[in-house]
Amino acid sequence: MKIQVINGPNLGRLGKRQPEVYGSTTYADLVVLCERAAAELGVEVQVRQSDLEGELIGWIHAAADAKEPVILNAGALTHTSIALRDACKELDAGLIELHISNVHAREEFRHHSYLSGIATAVIAGLGVAGYPLALRYFAER
Ligand code: DQA
Repeated sequence: MKIQVINGPNLGRLGKRQPEVYGSTTYADLVVLCERAAAELGVEVQVRQSDLEGELIGWIHAAADAKEPVILNAGALTHTSIALRDACKELDAGLIELHISNVHAREEFRHHSYLSGIATAVIAGLGVAGYPLALRYFAER
């Protein structure tokens, strides 16, 4: 089984961007963390990041066609993008919405998500440790 890990805008800046909120793990470290976790779980993983909404939507479409589960940290698009929600609605193999920070303990505008209502589950606030947990869920399901 192949699991898609898709990261949205500004997540390529992990480690440099607001480390007090997102931690000191870099994006490159996050990729390695996911690849190691997947290898231990005996599943394949593809980890990608884009700052472009259309590119993210294209990857979601491809995952929907391939019937692959998706772990999605959509960054700020979580709170704004109906287009991303519409694309995610086609993910029959499952969707975990993931946030490194606890969005509910932050600004009001981060409390609403267009994705939560169509996601299998939501993980928020566990830092980058949320990624291997989400991978484990799909690997063991
Ligand atoms: C985030 C939370 C979002 O509100 C924010 O815009 C991000 C990252 C998180 O991982 O905590 O870019 O999705």
